[in-house]
Amino acid sequence: MSNADIYHEMIIDYSRNPLNFGQIENPDVTFHDSNPLCGDSIDIDMNIKENKISDIKFHGRGCAICMACSSVLTEITKGKDIDEVKKITKNDVLSELGLENLQAVRIKCALLSLKVLKYALYSYLAKHMSETGDVDKLKEEAANLY
Ligand code: FES
Repeated sequence: MSNADIYHEMIIDYSRNPLNFGQIENPDVTFHDSNPLCGDSIDIDMNIKENKISDIKFHGRGCAICMACSSVLTEITKGKDIDEVKKITKNDVLSELGLENLQAVRIKCALLSLKVLKYALYSYLAKHMSETGDVDKLKEEAANLY
């Protein structure tokens, strides 16, 4: 089985049985966004304790790539501290599923959840920090992710 086949199976598997799928009751932060081209949408809920992502879940609907990347992203994020989460890049997500050379038209599918995560973190930090200069970079990054 080639690497491409393995990644393809992982994407199908994550899309059928997504990890961290669901909602958190009364989350510390929640954010929603959608892909206007297809109407698919993702919500991310997080709880944050002592600067760490103590819990994270996503829900919504999306194509197989969108669901698989949301699964992978939430797995990468869970338990990490905020400073580490701020540094998660698109390649961190894409490389987990062998999607580094994804066509431009599908990149939004793969990165919708990362965009939602960055905005969620931005909105949490903007509310809880008095110094927002660094935090504003996060918002800018989310806005220009694809
Ligand atoms: Fe809608 Fe991929 S087709 S997110």
